[in-house]
Amino acid sequence: MSITKICCIGAGYVGGPTMAVIAKQCPHIRVTVVDLNEARIAAWNDSDVTKIPVYEPGLSEVVAEARGRNLFFSTDVDGAIDEAEMVFISVNTPTKTYGAGKGQAADLKWIELCARQIARVSTTDKIVVEKSTLPVRTASTLKDILSHTGSGASFQILSNPEFLAEGTAVDDLLRPDRVLIGGDQSEEGRAAIGSLVEVYANWVPRERILTTNVWSSELSKLTANAFLAQRVSSINSLSELCEHTEADVSEVSRAIGTDSRIGPKFLKASVGFGGSCFQKDILNLVYIARTYGLQEVADYWEQVIIMNDHQKRRFAGRIIRTLYNTVNGKKIAFLGWAFKKDTNDTRESAAIYVADHLLLEQAELSVYDPKVPVQQVYTDLDYLATRSSDENKSLLKVVNDPYEACRDAHAVAVLTEWDEFRDYDWQRIYDNMLKPAHVFDGRNILDRAKLEAIGFKVKAIGS
Ligand code: NAD
Ligand code: UDX
Repeated sequence: MSITKICCIGAGYVGGPTMAVIAKQCPHIRVTVVDLNEARIAAWNDSDVTKIPVYEPGLSEVVAEARGRNLFFSTDVDGAIDEAEMVFISVNTPTKTYGAGKGQAADLKWIELCARQIARVSTTDKIVVEKSTLPVRTASTLKDILSHTGSGASFQILSNPEFLAEGTAVDDLLRPDRVLIGGDQSEEGRAAIGSLVEVYANWVPRERILTTNVWSSELSKLTANAFLAQRVSSINSLSELCEHTEADVSEVSRAIGTDSRIGPKFLKASVGFGGSCFQKDILNLVYIARTYGLQEVADYWEQVIIMNDHQKRRFAGRIIRTLYNTVNGKKIAFLGWAFKKDTNDTRESAAIYVADHLLLEQAELSVYDPKVPVQQVYTDLDYLATRSSDENKSLLKVVNDPYEACRDAHAVAVLTEWDEFRDYDWQRIYDNMLKPAHVFDGRNILDRAKLEAIGFKVKAIGS
């Protein structure tokens, strides 16, 4: 079947950019992105295209080109499902916060609601595409729900996990390393896979479009994130050893990354990985392994998370130790709150946990991030429920000027690797800080020699 109408349920960090790029590259396909969240849809439709709810380099240009032509954002979920031949499910699948599997399993409530809604409103056959990251074997649940509609419509279920990284989403979508499509190995299943291959083939070279059975596709997504996160935890574990041995973790990364079997990417030691995916997906993998009784497999992958939590705590601990074992009443400036540069997303950002540790010690924090809205910082901290919202507001201030954030501070901590931090007038920052003035570079982005020449005491991760 040649696809002419696509619906995507979920206008978030994946649904929005992914569909915008499909619409840009396929002007002959009408793409409608729907969401229950009215404010989010209104923001995607804002006449000022810089106000769309997801900040990604290049995304507003893509939206400006396709929106109103063949890209639409709407809250009419039923209508968009019914008119589409292909429905992507791109809703959130967070870690469960209640009941069985609490703290580990993926909460599939929203996925199931989507399946039931598709079943209820469909009057014609459809290809349903899992775009959300899902536990292996979720497609059988979807199939079960969809095959009991009674409407006479029939459904094929494909798994098409998304590999974009935030901050580089548009580029990743335009030039993916690969697109993965898993489906039933029946004749109908293979036809459905073919329809989705044709959509991507409008701009992705065919040799980069991999097809597999549906279970391999589902499991490959969790596996890819587990491998990537494992690299970060591996290098972070060695950063601690470097700090005790005068080895420098950046030099170690370079030395091992030039081995073509290891490769240079994902070897940057940091204050800890964040983002909505790595932790959630590994916890999910751990949970699935335990469900099958695979204790050693579960323990192996759980260690990646344990190391990441340790790294965040360790960074805060080093700040406290260096500031003479007390930060009570001391002002510490945070440069960066997003979980990585070039995104306004703060989900699971290391900054949240480092802030929480320091606030437990009664530090006074002053936070600057170029893209994160003020309220988001408080929402992130309040969500931890460590202290009252009023206490968070009195101990932590969010400011919109980095120099103001650092004024009269004892220390500056770099939590996100925003490029602009390198270009600041560090002499001016130093002049306005209390002495001795400390810098804790949680991303290893600053020029240490330059800072030390100014007079800063510098501590970077892994050296
Ligand atoms: P998100 O929270 O930004 O967006 C999900 C959206 O779905 C929300 O706007 C929510 O209102 C909407 N929604 C939920 N239930 C709905 C329903 N029944 N009907 C209509 N709308 C509904 O999440 P995200 O970051 O876009 O992630 C979506 C999925 O993609 C997750 O499974 C995630 O693991 C996966 N993923 C995310 C990334 C990433 O970088 N963020 C990358 C690859 C895969
Ligand atoms: C990740 C996967 O990369 C992507 O393929 C998947 O679709 C979604 O999850 P994302 O979380 O958006 O993407 O960003 P990523 O670039 O993977 O970074 C994740 C975290 O790891 C960030 O906090 C980043 O700062 C950290 N990181 C990454 C390091 O600390 N060191 C590195 O070398 C690389």
